[in-house]
Amino acid sequence: MKMHKVGVALSMAALIGVAFGCAPNKAEPVRTASIPDGTVDPAQWGKVYPEEYELWKKTGEPTPAGKSKYKKGNDGERIDKLDEYPFLALLYNGWGMGIEYSEPRGHQNMILDQLDVEPARYKAGGSCLTCKTPYAPALQQKMGKDYFSKPYKEVLAQIPKEHQTLGVACIDCHNNQDMTLKISRGFTLGKALDLIGADQSKLTQQEKRTLVCAQCHVTYSIPKDAEMHSTDVFFPWKGSKMGGITIENIIKQLRSNPPSGEWTQSVTGFKLAFIRHPEFELFSNNSVHWQAGVACSDCHMPYTKVGSKKVSDHRIMSPLKNDLKACQQCHTETPEWLRNQVFAIQDRTMSQFIRTGYATATVAKLFEMANKAQAGGKQIDKELYAQARDQYEEAFYRVVFISAENSIGFHNPTEALRILGDAAIRAGKAEALLRQALAKAGVNVPVKIDLELAKYVNNRGSKKLMFKPQHEIKDPLAGK
Ligand code: HEC
Ligand code: HEC
Ligand code: HEC
Ligand code: HEC
Repeated sequence: MKMHKVGVALSMAALIGVAFGCAPNKAEPVRTASIPDGTVDPAQWGKVYPEEYELWKKTGEPTPAGKSKYKKGNDGERIDKLDEYPFLALLYNGWGMGIEYSEPRGHQNMILDQLDVEPARYKAGGSCLTCKTPYAPALQQKMGKDYFSKPYKEVLAQIPKEHQTLGVACIDCHNNQDMTLKISRGFTLGKALDLIGADQSKLTQQEKRTLVCAQCHVTYSIPKDAEMHSTDVFFPWKGSKMGGITIENIIKQLRSNPPSGEWTQSVTGFKLAFIRHPEFELFSNNSVHWQAGVACSDCHMPYTKVGSKKVSDHRIMSPLKNDLKACQQCHTETPEWLRNQVFAIQDRTMSQFIRTGYATATVAKLFEMANKAQAGGKQIDKELYAQARDQYEEAFYRVVFISAENSIGFHNPTEALRILGDAAIRAGKAEALLRQALAKAGVNVPVKIDLELAKYVNNRGSKKLMFKPQHEIKDPLAGK
């Protein structure tokens, strides 16, 4: 797109010179009635800030249906990524993620959704509460290592009864004294910021408007000890820098750190790591909006009028569900034009994602074939196999990254396509190497590999979940 087509409703003076000059005017100054230290209950905060509290409560409601093309998980019916993308059921087979992997819903549902999900999903123990309950920092401090390793239900029971299903609360993002933004998860994000050399005492307001979200919308690993007990929640950011946490560095951290191997992929038998919701990593890696100083909150918490007051919309959701009001704080185009831009970006990402996902799943099946041949006494060339495995893992983590990132490329369109392009090339190399190894061993490999998807998408877990074909997302650019 040509630059002049983007009508950004800001003076150039505001954009030049000020590092984060792109934020629209702030909401009115806040009242300073006091909220006692340690108050978790949002209703108490709501007595002082009723507008924000009422909007925040709405994150427990479904979002307007039919406005988003690909993110329908909060439109009413729960939607599982494994139904949307059946190749993921094959790739994730072997642990909880391959059983049930729901699309996100609003913030008030997070613990309810966790309690509803296939229990294998929270096998990692208390660690799983880290981005779910406002009590996580206090629990971690009180329980130490036990917080990570004790069973999920046991740690949950430490939370006061009336708050056991409470999701993100005011205290997660705000200082109770003056309502400034704060990072409450020093034990995860705080440590990770140190890793990339970001000085927490020097963060700008605009950076905080992103980093409060980055407490949870980031990828993490749950390292295990020899008995497979969780020992920590850590972000694989070493070697990266603020504004450049790259997929290459993330994969390097995961692959060079054996405790990150959290599960065994059943199709290949490989012990692998995993990547979760890397919204912050994708967005902050030099995207156009990050460069322009735009924050998560600009798009997901636009200013809104409540009566005569101007407040930040605490009903955090997709900007599409809000008719792109957030974008219009800066862009002068119509909502239709903006929506079409989002859809065009997402269609390209989606198409490439689905194609690359199937290519990677095909390689997994070729490994299954090679492993069987080997078990049956055939000689599989070790060098070819090792090279293929290396290329496969590189492709796999890139596919996982994009599948876990929740914007379908919008947060950083060019980077998303670059990542998928690399994944496709690496999956292609892995396939060629494996075909060579199998041919050398005298195994006849068909041109078209049967993925046996029915085996993976049906009868999943204790709920015996079945494939819902109506939820499958098809390649929007099929035939092109
Ligand atoms: C304490 C952790 C935490 C923090 C902090 C947090 N989120 Fe979330 N967010 C989640 C979880 C968990 C979900 C998924 C909830 C579910 O599916 O039940 C979610 C869901 C969402 C959704 C999907 C909502 C929908 O209607 O489907 C959006 C958008 C979102 N978050 C944006 C943000 C933004 C922007 C910020 C910062 C202003 C933020 N989040 C801060 C944990 C967090
Ligand atoms: C320039 C605007 C913009 C910025 C900045 C932005 N987002 Fe988004 N975000 C979007 C759009 C557009 C979507 C796609 C929504 C859809 O398809 O319905 C999205 C999707 C999401 C979703 C999935 C929503 C859903 O309904 O499932 C989450 C979660 C999310 N963003 C979190 C974040 C976080 C965290 C940040 C900062 C690290 C961020 N976003 C920065 C515009 C933005
Ligand atoms: C996920 C993080 C998050 C949560 C949870 C959250 N806020 Fe906020 N809040 C923000 C952000 C970001 C801003 C914008 C701050 C800025 O730029 O100055 C904000 C601003 C505010 C302001 C300043 C006026 C305004 O609307 O901009 C008040 C008051 C406020 N929040 C109250 C609350 C209350 C009360 C709750 C709990 C019911 C709450 N917030 C929960 C992130 C959060
Ligand atoms: C806080 C201001 C701000 C907000 C909010 C914002 N943008 Fe932007 N956007 C910009 C700026 C600045 C640029 C860069 C303009 C340029 O280089 O000419 C940009 C560039 C873009 C581009 C072209 C670059 C690319 O990544 O493809 C698109 C498309 C776009 N914005 C769409 C949106 C949509 C859709 C939303 C709402 C979901 C949104 N923007 C929200 C400020 C904003």
